[in-house]
Amino acid sequence: MTYIVTDDCINCKYSDCVEVCPVDCFYEGENMLVINPSECIDCGVCEPECPAEAIKSDQDGNMEKWVELNAKYADLWPNLTRKKDPLPKADDWAGVKNKLTDHFSENPGSGD
Ligand code: SF4
Ligand code: F3S
Repeated sequence: MTYIVTDDCINCKYSDCVEVCPVDCFYEGENMLVINPSECIDCGVCEPECPAEAIKSDQDGNMEKWVELNAKYADLWPNLTRKKDPLPKADDWAGVKNKLTDHFSENPGSGD
């Protein structure tokens, strides 16, 4: 089991999540973070830390797509272990639904 980051993170990247992860398994793309499902120990402490409510358990239902996306990009993106400033329009994008399908197609690492 694992936790994963959904597209609610896109263009927010508050990064409060990385501060609390005991195994440093977050990876950073241009516009969002992902969790490496093979490194996550399923502790759950990151989930309530995200202001955008972007982190979910893979047990929440219909999460297969996000597990695949997180695994794919965790292999491609660099590790992030320290909190950094959110993206400039983070507060505007927090709460926007279906960011990936409506705004970023299948390329979460792209610019807006
Ligand atoms: Fe890290 Fe725990 Fe969150 Fe997994 S559930 S990403 S181990 S803080
Ligand atoms: Fe993204 Fe939330 Fe972490 S917006 S960077 S998953 S705190």
